[in-house]
Amino acid sequence: MSLTHQRVLIIGGSSGMGLASARRLVQAGADVFIAGRDEARLQAAVASLEGRAVGIAADFTDPEALQALMIRIGRLDHLVLAAAGAAAWGPFAQLPVEAVRTALNTKLLGYWQSLQAALPILRKDGSVVFLTGAASRVAMAGTAGLAAVNGGITQMAQTLAKELAPLRVNVVSPGLVDTPAYDGLPADAKAGMFAGAAKSLPVGRTGLADDIAQGVEMLLANHFATGVLLDIDGGARMPLRDPT
Ligand SMILES: NC(=O)c1ccc[n+]([C@@H]2O[C@H](COP(=O)([O-])OP(=O)(O)OC[C@H]3O[C@@H](n4cnc5c(N)ncnc54)[C@H](OP(=O)(O)O)[C@@H]3O)[C@@H](O)[C@H]2O)c1
Repeated sequence: MSLTHQRVLIIGGSSGMGLASARRLVQAGADVFIAGRDEARLQAAVASLEGRAVGIAADFTDPEALQALMIRIGRLDHLVLAAAGAAAWGPFAQLPVEAVRTALNTKLLGYWQSLQAALPILRKDGSVVFLTGAASRVAMAGTAGLAAVNGGITQMAQTLAKELAPLRVNVVSPGLVDTPAYDGLPADAKAGMFAGAAKSLPVGRTGLADDIAQGVEMLLANHFATGVLLDIDGGARMPLRDPT
C-alpha cells in the first residue's frame, strides 16, 4: 500500500532508527513529523532529511507536551514510537529498583501515554509501530531490566491490536544496532562490544538503523499486518556460540 501523503509521527525521530525510518518514509512520499526533546538535534535531523519533514520538540514523558504536539499536528495516519528511555542494565541482584522504575516510567509509560495522546487524532484504521528490544526476546544475563520494559511493551501491543482494532498495532524488536545511543561509550569499548556481538550472530554483523527502518516501513504500509512481532536482530535468538 502506498504511503504517499500519509501523515506519520515518529517520536524519537531525531536520531538512530527513528531518523532512519523518517528517511525511508520521506522517500516513500509520506508527510513526516519527527519529535524529540532536543531542538538542535531535531533541526539537524530535519536538515539531513533535506527539510522534507517537520521537527517538533516534545518530551514523551510529559503529558502536556504530548497534548500540545497532537494539537499542532492535527491529524495522523500512523504513529511510530522509537524514543529511548532510561536503560536499566546490570545484574538483577544489584540493580536498584529505582533504576527499573525510571526505565518503566520513561520508555514503557512514555509509549503508553504517547499512544493515548495520539488516539484522538489517529485515523481509526491507521497504525502504530512500537520499537522494543531483543533483550525481551533473548535471555541474557544482566538484561532483566531491559526485558521487563520491552517485554511489557510487546505484551501491551498484542492486547492493543485487538482492543483498538481496526487500528493496526505492531512491534519491531531490534537487536544490537549501531546508533548514536552508544556515542557515550569509549571508542574501544564500543568496538569490542560490536565485534563480539557480530561474531555471535548468524548474519556475521551487527545492525544498521536502516535494517530496522525497513521493517517499520513494511508494517506501516501492509494493511494485513497487525499484532505482528517482527524480530530484526541478525538472529540473536539463535546465537552461533552454544553454551559450553
Ligand atoms: N541501538 C540499539 O542497539 C537498540 C537495541 C534494541 C532496542 N533499541 C531501542 O530502539 C529505540 C531506538 O533506539 P536508537 O538506538 O535508535 O536510539 P537513539 O539513536 O539514542 O535515539 C533516541 C531518540 O529518542 C529520543 N528521545 C529520548 N528520550 C526522549 C523523550 N523523553 N521524549 C522524546 N524523545 C526522546 C531522542 O531525542 P532527544 O534525546 O533529543 O529527546 C532520539 O531522537 C529505543 O527505544 C531503544 O531502546 C535500541
